[in-house]
Amino acid sequence: MQKNNPGRSGGIERIGRITKNFFLHIHASKVHPFSLKPTYTFGLGIILGMLFIIMVFTGVVLMVYYTPSVDRAYESVKDIIYIVPGGRVIRNLHRWASYGMVIVTFLHLIRVFYTGSYLGGRSRNWVIGVVMFIVVLLMSFSGYLLPWDQLSYWAITIGSNIAASSRELTDLLGITNQFDIGGITKKLLIGGEMVGQPALSRFFAMHVIFLPLTLLILIGVHFWRIRKDGGLSRPLQYAESKHADDNKWYSWPVMMWLELAVFFSLLAVLLLLALFADAPLLEKANPAFPENPAKSPWYFLGIQEMVSYSAFAGGMAVPLLYVAFLFSVPYIDREHDLTGLWFSGRKGLKIALHSALFAFLVIVLQLFVMIRFGWLRDWFPGISQWWVLLFNPASVTAYCFIGFAQVIKRMTGSTRMTAIALFTLSLIGLILFTAVGILFRGPNWEFFWSPARWPTV
Ligand code: HEM
Repeated sequence: MQKNNPGRSGGIERIGRITKNFFLHIHASKVHPFSLKPTYTFGLGIILGMLFIIMVFTGVVLMVYYTPSVDRAYESVKDIIYIVPGGRVIRNLHRWASYGMVIVTFLHLIRVFYTGSYLGGRSRNWVIGVVMFIVVLLMSFSGYLLPWDQLSYWAITIGSNIAASSRELTDLLGITNQFDIGGITKKLLIGGEMVGQPALSRFFAMHVIFLPLTLLILIGVHFWRIRKDGGLSRPLQYAESKHADDNKWYSWPVMMWLELAVFFSLLAVLLLLALFADAPLLEKANPAFPENPAKSPWYFLGIQEMVSYSAFAGGMAVPLLYVAFLFSVPYIDREHDLTGLWFSGRKGLKIALHSALFAFLVIVLQLFVMIRFGWLRDWFPGISQWWVLLFNPASVTAYCFIGFAQVIKRMTGSTRMTAIALFTLSLIGLILFTAVGILFRGPNWEFFWSPARWPTV
């Protein structure tokens, strides 16, 4: 890559290139070498942008043949798979890219957090990122219903019941008749009490217009902010100095070649997947025959697992607390000098490892007790639901995590170390609850070591 300091005429020539060059409207013309370290970003942000482009292209093709009506949706998807030339591969590409987007968005969020990249004036971009994370989840969720098969129908039914989970609290307070916030949320989401045509129309509109447009705008602002924030974060020793520009490299054309290489590698991987692994399609949706187990989309199975302990604690309180924590991180932790370094150094890594171990023990121990010996309702059948709401494995896990983070705060006096502890605890919690929901829950949401042990119904 060419270093800075062209002659005066070289500089003018380059300015000319920048104005004509689309690439240089996205990237800054110069980049700090630290930002190119593959082990710093792993290229995750760029991969996300590319996945979004692939989603839009394949989505537009699918939209040509898809009909968003309960009578025709399933058949139109079957047509796409079996009649439209290349339709099966396009549908598979769209599905695997959407799962990829959920996973890579989460990985990108993790990398940005652990490198302290929300610090040093990047708080706004972090907040935009959290909104994008939610939009990516909603985009995937809204697309899930469109095939209108048994899998999608019951997954969205479960998802919409989770949206209504604050009914547990309003029931306990005896105010559901006057203020049914859970019911209102569910109705807003699916347009009624049950998933039907209003839900399909809403999900289709959200999936093909509202959410992609929102995401496109947010991506634009996100990229613009990266440039405004002075490029990617980096450790203090590389921070801007008077001669900062002299240490930077021109991004054109080497970065373009690198990004093209990433794009074609990504496309190759997705194509291989799409050729050899088909996106699922069960029988046409039948509201009279629930799937057992009926599972929400896999990325919400951690929430569904917690909802099985207490609807309000697992479906509302804990997820909202998690999102509030994500939004507030850059405003609670302001130790700007700890930016640009994985885990902010060895101490942060040690705290992350201890937090991971603590989270693992807290959750596995509770799951063991619950599966082996039951929980409050099994021990005291007449117990008030308030006790279950306040003390179930999801809320007890949250209390333990907050307590552990308090201890770290007292011991280190550092907001960054406390944030690392809380982030790691909730990360392990999310992974473990999701894994249990995906791998170990069978008919009637009972625990099984493997689907091979499910009773035949
Ligand atoms: C569709 C979703 C997203 C796209 C397309 C995207 C794209 C990008 C790109 C291309 C970069 C620069 C390269 C890199 O860091 O890998 C970046 C950086 C960044 N992203 Fe994202 N991002 C997305 C979601 C998120 C999320 C969920 C968060 C966090 C909650 C986030 C926060 C940030 C921050 C703070 C930076 C600056 C990092 C630094 O200065 O080191 N982004 N993003």
